[in-house]
Amino acid sequence: MNQSAIICVCGAGTMGSGVAQVCAQSGFSTILFDVNNDMIVKSRSGLNNSLQLLIQKGKITAAEKEQIIQRLSFTSNISDCKADIIIEAIIEQKDKKVTLFNQLAIINSTTTIFATNTSSISINEIAREIKNPSNLVGMHFFNPAPIMKLVEIIKTNETDRVVIETIKAFAKQLNKTAVLCNDSPGFIVNRVARHYYLEAMRLVEAGSVDIETIDAVMEASGFKMGPFKLMDLIGIDINYNVSRIVWEALDKPERLRPSIIQQQKLAANELGRKSGKGFYQY
Ligand SMILES: NC(=O)c1ccc[n+]([C@@H]2O[C@H](COP(=O)([O-])OP(=O)(O)OC[C@H]3O[C@@H](n4cnc5c(N)ncnc54)[C@H](O)[C@@H]3O)[C@@H](O)[C@H]2O)c1
Repeated sequence: MNQSAIICVCGAGTMGSGVAQVCAQSGFSTILFDVNNDMIVKSRSGLNNSLQLLIQKGKITAAEKEQIIQRLSFTSNISDCKADIIIEAIIEQKDKKVTLFNQLAIINSTTTIFATNTSSISINEIAREIKNPSNLVGMHFFNPAPIMKLVEIIKTNETDRVVIETIKAFAKQLNKTAVLCNDSPGFIVNRVARHYYLEAMRLVEAGSVDIETIDAVMEASGFKMGPFKLMDLIGIDINYNVSRIVWEALDKPERLRPSIIQQQKLAANELGRKSGKGFYQY
């Protein structure tokens, strides 16, 4: 992708903010859009802190930080979302994503690429309901996006070959490792990792062991983060939705049934780090 290309990231939450940072740090003019102005304010200050931390670690200079900030613009007005690549990172609901893509199709060119960061919604199902299905591709970043190297690129039955090649090259420009996947429930990582969360919660449900012990044991065995700390980082709402969508898409197998523990956390609005409390207090 030409360095003068414009990138628009939709959703200024955990993932959108991180993805926008990656794009701006890689030299692209980046628009960050959210319907919620409070999230924009939070994201702007979070991005500033995150870049400041990079200066302290000696990874960027103060002048580079200023250049990165110059490349970022924030908006709550959808009519500002005109770009060469649009990366959607809004709420994990198919209808909301479809509506957004169809609104964006009206104001963008027919060559604009639409990438979705969905963790679990079928990209084919989104493609079926949008105006330019051949321009749609999955671009699944991992949390925290500025740090995690992997990006799953998910093609649909209709994704244009040029779109796939452009997004592969773009991921490389973002200094990410891209893996091309077919569209299947949970793609690769979220499918395989489901058991990491679900089995841990089953042990707690059965009263066998507490969450702190499970986290400590899994970390001691080589995993970077225990399952409960990781669910708090991901967001319990997001993680629960992924579990539910993967379970339903595979005809509800018992081994993948979502946990009551997560449902209780959701009902109590204990969503993890982002809400100040999840399995742990922040
Ligand atoms: N959290 C993770 O670890 C993770 C990892 C990979 C992918 N994802 C995926 O990324 C997406 C976003 O997840 P997140 O954790 O950043 O969620 P989040 O709840 O932190 O942020 C979502 C943001 O989208 C905004 N939003 C909602 N509807 C919108 C709309 N119509 N237009 C613009 N903005 C809108 C909200 O105001 C909010 O700021 C989801 O699809 C999720 O599955 C999440």
